[in-house]
Amino acid sequence: MMARERKDYFYRKAKAEGYRARSAFKLQQINKRFRLIRRGDAVLDLGAAPGGWLQVAKEISGGRVVGVDLQAIEPIDGVTTIKADITAPETLELITDALGGKADVVICDAAPNLSGNWTLDHARSIDLSRSALRVAGEVLRPGGNFLVKVFQGDAFLDYLSEVRGNFRRAQSHSPAASRKESAEMYVIGQGFVSSPVKVGDVLELEIVSVGKSGDGVAEVEGFNVFVPGTAVGDRVQVRIRSIRSGHAVGAAEMPRAEPE
Ligand SMILES: C[S@@+](CC[C@H](N)C(=O)[O-])C[C@H]1O[C@@H](n2cnc3c(N)ncnc32)[C@H](O)[C@@H]1O
Repeated sequence: MMARERKDYFYRKAKAEGYRARSAFKLQQINKRFRLIRRGDAVLDLGAAPGGWLQVAKEISGGRVVGVDLQAIEPIDGVTTIKADITAPETLELITDALGGKADVVICDAAPNLSGNWTLDHARSIDLSRSALRVAGEVLRPGGNFLVKVFQGDAFLDYLSEVRGNFRRAQSHSPAASRKESAEMYVIGQGFVSSPVKVGDVLELEIVSVGKSGDGVAEVEGFNVFVPGTAVGDRVQVRIRSIRSGHAVGAAEMPRAEPE
């Protein structure tokens, strides 16, 4: 099918089925394949207007669904909507109040107003995606799922690895209902790993034990950070490289202090 015909096809299908946006089918397709949203899940949708994803999320989960957008969203039965900027820190409180607990899934289809300047549009898209990841980091329950749209460009792989650092599994995906010519990709994170440290954090740590592999181990709030090349008693500056289920791996950045 030509891209144009495909676009018209999904547009008509959305109208016929009562969805507010063609993007509703993208979420349906993604969810069929990855099962990010399940029955009963609490779902947060960032950049949710006009509400196609909200309609689909509500159908699948039947649970609490909250949508945020700069634009007002026409009411949807059983869905709470917030008119706010997802990049503004104060929006987090509005979201946590509306959720009334942790979210099982955070989805984000937010897109900047396109300027036509490719580099700028990509940078703005990455900014929105980073905000979505930040919000997800605050509201997701451990094991929760994440889906975010990103325009491809230079910073795409960096962003993917940021997501990878916070989930057991992360991947990019381009669904069939996306227009062929568009550069939009979706990044999927499954199994949120809640940890007191984040990838990129630099911390002063003391090595308190040695792991099976022989790596030094430091603890942050009961969370193990493995630091290769260190020994018990070392105090080192550590940059967190990755987060796995239940532990982090960091790199020592300072020469280790040798015992006298
Ligand atoms: C492609 S639309 C979302 C479509 C939606 N998934 C649906 O199915 O109806 C992108 C939305 O992102 C919103 N958006 C862009 N920047 C935002 C921001 N900083 N905060 C909140 N929403 C934002 C826009 O207002 C727009 O409604």
